[in-house]
Amino acid sequence: MTETVRPTAVIVLAAGAGTRMKSATPKILHTLGGTSMIGHALNTARGVDPEHLVAVVRHQREKVTDHIQHHDGAVLIADQDQTPGTGRAVECGLEALAAAGAPAVSGTVVVTYGDVPLLSPELLGKLVAEHQSKGNAATVLSTELEDPSGYGRILRDGDQVTGIVEHKDATEAQRGIREINSGIYAFDAASLTEALAQVSTDNAQGEKYLTDVLGLVRAAGGRVSALVTEDRWQVEGANDRLQLQALAAELNRRTVTAAMRAGTTVIDPATTWIDPSVILEEDTTILPNTQLHGKTRISRDAVIGPDTTLTDVTVGEGAQVVRTHGSGAQIGAGGVVGPFAYLRPGTVLGETGKIGAFYETKNVQIGRGSKLSHLGYAGDAIIGEHTNIGCGNITANYDGEHKHRTVIGSHVRTSSNTVFVAPVEIGDGAYTGAGAVVRKDVPPGALALTVAPQRNSAGWVAAKRPGSKSAQAAEEAQQNTNDDARPTTDRK
Ligand code: UD1
Ligand code: CA
Repeated sequence: MTETVRPTAVIVLAAGAGTRMKSATPKILHTLGGTSMIGHALNTARGVDPEHLVAVVRHQREKVTDHIQHHDGAVLIADQDQTPGTGRAVECGLEALAAAGAPAVSGTVVVTYGDVPLLSPELLGKLVAEHQSKGNAATVLSTELEDPSGYGRILRDGDQVTGIVEHKDATEAQRGIREINSGIYAFDAASLTEALAQVSTDNAQGEKYLTDVLGLVRAAGGRVSALVTEDRWQVEGANDRLQLQALAAELNRRTVTAAMRAGTTVIDPATTWIDPSVILEEDTTILPNTQLHGKTRISRDAVIGPDTTLTDVTVGEGAQVVRTHGSGAQIGAGGVVGPFAYLRPGTVLGETGKIGAFYETKNVQIGRGSKLSHLGYAGDAIIGEHTNIGCGNITANYDGEHKHRTVIGSHVRTSSNTVFVAPVEIGDGAYTGAGAVVRKDVPPGALALTVAPQRNSAGWVAAKRPGSKSAQAAEEAQQNTNDDARPTTDRK
């Protein structure tokens, strides 16, 4: 078997208008599995390790170009001129390559589409290997469809491909052919360049068809064959939001299936959405209605969900995250989060720590074993180890203009409704009283009390709210107390 030679280039066609998306956003920038369609296409192209990666653009050029360069800074951008068609698009790609210093483009040139996101690097690599091992001038990736209407049809003479005819240009008999052109090819660069020079726009759509190249190359004596795939999803494009959703659901089905095969329990695959970029270790459990996005990483024995959305969150071994919305956060091993927690970027929960019900956190480091169990907000703060933050505690971190930091030591016990008016520091082992508004630093081991001693004004309700339900209730209570105080012998 011959070694596969590195392709000279992959040219990704991305100049089309995509009007059926009905969107101000260019079609190929719409996402599935957390990555744009063009992002998936570029990742797959990179997967076959080409010397050059070219994207041909035209429609919404600036937005598309910015996005591509942000995704992969080494992509060469080629502009398609006003001549329409996939053939002209490839020609513009080859011209840009030549201008960038590859004057006589030789070797293998691969063509893919920016709107075919599920094509895998494995299948594209297989196409390149097939093309090279057969010594072909052109190799097309094809598939058989129940309903091939709209697609270009593969014309064959045995195992050789004699040409491709577009649906609009096809005869009734040709329209009966179910083997379709995916639009993904490997070409010998010289044969491709030569053939493209002969392609006209004399067809039903007035376009310069790339598909004409196959017939021309074959007529010039080159070998042309097809690699047939049975996995139609890999060659499927998205033209509108329905097709995009179908592809997104299939991508998710594949990702969730792979996760289960690799040792994750997924209770309800239908309501579990996992980006391909997410890492799940063995023996993780995902409960229903959970979405895991971006650089999220879930360690062994962790349980996530139900009803949880995590984006770029790392979860340590054995942690539990229940009904939580989190992004840019780290949860330590054995940590407990939720239900109903909102973790914002910069939240770092130490091992066995807790962020409980109805807590919002942002830019806060919480030490090992520290607990923020109920109802509060912690932002711009550092909390030591084994500290217990009482119910309803708030860091008042914002003075209206600037954010300030709260530093709380280890083994601190704060009582309910403590407000930390930042900047402020609470020493190790300190306590606060209920309702304390802490404006000054608290030394280690001190108890901070800021609420005035309680004074009861007797009979205030009877005097100020005479005849009210409260006054009546108070009078009855008073009566009962008096009755209870009477010696039992006096009772009737
Ligand atoms: C094309 C093929 C058809 C194949 C089908 C598979 C041709 C002539 N026909 O048809 O045989 O079955 O794909 O989906 O190639 N593009 C450009 N510049 C252009 C035109 C298109 O970059 O001037 C890009 C589009 O953005 C898109 C891809 O090429 O990513 C395919 O274009 P599209 O118009 O969808 O081709 P089809 O007519 O569907
Ligand atoms: Ca198409």
